[in-house]
Amino acid sequence: SPPKVFVTRYVPPGGVEVLSRHCQVDQWDSQDPIPRDELLKRVQGIEGLYCLLTERIDKEVLDAAGPQLKVVSTMSVGYDHVDVAECRSRNIRVGFTPDVLTNATAELTISLLLATSRRLYEGIKAVREGRWGTWNPVWMCGQGLDGATVGIVGLGRIGFAVAERLRPFGVGKFLYTDSEAKTYASEVGAERADFDTLCRQSDFILGCCALTDENKGLFNKDAYSKMKKTAILINTSRGGLVNQEDLYVALSTNQILAAGLDVTVPEPLPLNSPLMRLDNCIVLPHIGSATEKSRAAMSELTGQNIVAALQGEKMPREVPY
Ligand code: GLV
Ligand code: GLV
Repeated sequence: SPPKVFVTRYVPPGGVEVLSRHCQVDQWDSQDPIPRDELLKRVQGIEGLYCLLTERIDKEVLDAAGPQLKVVSTMSVGYDHVDVAECRSRNIRVGFTPDVLTNATAELTISLLLATSRRLYEGIKAVREGRWGTWNPVWMCGQGLDGATVGIVGLGRIGFAVAERLRPFGVGKFLYTDSEAKTYASEVGAERADFDTLCRQSDFILGCCALTDENKGLFNKDAYSKMKKTAILINTSRGGLVNQEDLYVALSTNQILAAGLDVTVPEPLPLNSPLMRLDNCIVLPHIGSATEKSRAAMSELTGQNIVAALQGEKMPREVPY
């Protein structure tokens, strides 16, 4: 009989169609996340798991599934929610969806950057609240990209796509911190700097890296204290990169100018979060990859990863060893 696969959410249908040709598919067919106890029940006996970044795939889930589980594929490029080491030790292969969301996420990063630097949220609010008195030479002035220094923490696929797209805006200089980004760096003319230097010199600081144990809370009080008063922080990677309490202090005491966050801890960000009270902080609901095209491609790729692994073939996108 065909292998059993569980899909943890209603997703763009392409991925389920791919799976249905080769597998027996069970699905939590809802736009709300599956409750944990339900997840633990439904994974019993499956060989493939199609999951999202809203589920923690840990020992408990793998135990609940059973020893026949062969592959976990997440419909995301980030896989910090999956215990990859534990999967490895059980010979469970892990798939993810890089590349197909790179352009969409780069676009959203730039949208946040432009929105914060040119104060779109404040401007829209002022218009709607009747505070647009007159064209005023000194009102609503922001920071332009022309001649700016942009520091990219994580010059990988997405960071590189952001840099390529920012070049035509006249960015003067790109800085980056990682040691493995040399090829990307030379293509966009980025200079390597240590994190302190990047914080001190950048007008715009972009979080584009994967979240790891090492960079958790990287953007903290210490980092903000080194940044320019005119600096703008953008994070489209994972909320855990940013210490939000410290960010609130930095933004509300004008240590830095503004922040644009597509990701937070927790998600959703509670309405009573102090960050919600700030006009110089734009928070978006984790929509970096949210174009129709990208989400459809992510779903299909997730399905293809699972089918390939179950057939003992090379997965289109397997999490690197
Ligand atoms: C979204 O955050 C992703 O990791 O794909
Ligand atoms: C602005 O609208 C200008 O004409 O300078």
